[in-house]
Amino acid sequence: MKPVVLLPHPLPPDWISSLDGRVELIVGAEQETGWSANVTESISRADGLLSLLTDRIDEVLLEKMPRLRIVSNMAVGVDNIDVKACTRRGIPVGNTPGAMTDATADLTLSLLLAAARRLPESSRDAREGRWRTWSPTGWLGADLRGATLGIIGLGKIGRAVAERARGFGLRLVYWKPAPSPENEAAAGARYVTFDELMSTSDFVTLHCPLNESTRGLIDEAALRKMKPSAILVNAARGPVVDTPALVRALTENWIRFAALDVTDPEPLPPDHVLYSLPNCFILPHIGSATHGTRKRMAEMACENLLSGLDGRRLPNCVNPEVYS
Ligand code: GLV
Repeated sequence: MKPVVLLPHPLPPDWISSLDGRVELIVGAEQETGWSANVTESISRADGLLSLLTDRIDEVLLEKMPRLRIVSNMAVGVDNIDVKACTRRGIPVGNTPGAMTDATADLTLSLLLAAARRLPESSRDAREGRWRTWSPTGWLGADLRGATLGIIGLGKIGRAVAERARGFGLRLVYWKPAPSPENEAAAGARYVTFDELMSTSDFVTLHCPLNESTRGLIDEAALRKMKPSAILVNAARGPVVDTPALVRALTENWIRFAALDVTDPEPLPPDHVLYSLPNCFILPHIGSATHGTRKRMAEMACENLLSGLDGRRLPNCVNPEVYS
C-alpha cells in the first residue's frame, strides 16, 4: 500500500514528478480558499501533507490526522504551521530554505527602486495625461549611492539583499536579536541597535521570519523613529508590520513611502485603506514567483515529503528535535 499524501492545492505535474508511483496523491481542486471535499474527506487517512503558506496547520487539524508522519511546507516561512504541536506528535516539518533567496532578494530591490524612483506614481501620471513636458523638478526621487539601507534580519535573504544593495552604493546596517559576525563580514553590513537602524536608515527592509517576537515589530513606536523621508520595504511577512500603525504613518507622513509584497491580512481586501494611499505600493505576495524558483520549491518540498514518509531525516527540517 502506498502512503496517502494530501496536496490541497494542485501543482504543475512536472514540479512534483518525484512523487509519481511512490504515493497515493489526493489533489485538491483549484480553489482560492479552503480545501475541496476530496481532500477533507481523506484527512483521517493521510500519511503526509504537502502544504502551502496559505494552509493553516493547527492543533484542530492535526487532531483529525492520526496517521500523519510528515508536514512538508512549500515555503521557507512556517508561520502557518503550529510547529510545536507537530513536534509534540513527533511529526517533522519541512521547509524550502535557499530556493527562493535570489527571487525574493530581486523582488526586494525591485520594490526599493520602484519606491525610491516613484515608479508607481510616475507611471500612473504618464498614463493619465499628467506628462505634459520634461520637467526639471518632476517626479524627483531618492538617491541610492551613499544612502543607508537598514536590514532587519540577516539570514539568507537579508544577505542576498545586502549583496545587491552594495552594487547600488548603499551603506548597510542591520539588526537582528543577536549579531552574527560571520554573516556581517560577508554582507558588508554593520550591526546597530534596532532604534539606531530605524532612526538613521533612508530605507528599511524586513527579512526576519514571523514569530512571536517579530509579530508587530514595526509598530507605532518603531515607525515614529523613522526619518520622514524614509521608505519601508516588506517582502517578509505582513504581520511583522502593525497595519493600523502603518496606515497612520503613511496618512500623517511620518515616513515617505511603504512598498509591500506582503500585508496583514492576506489577501488585502480590495477596499482596504492602504490601496487608497498615494504613498503605498502593494504587490500580491510574489516574492518567490519565478518559474525556476517555484519549481525548485516544489521539488524540495517533495524531497522532504518522501524522506518523511520513508522515516529518513528531512533534508530541511524546522523541528529537528523530533529526531532526538
Ligand atoms: C514565501 O513567502 C516563503 O516563505 O517561502
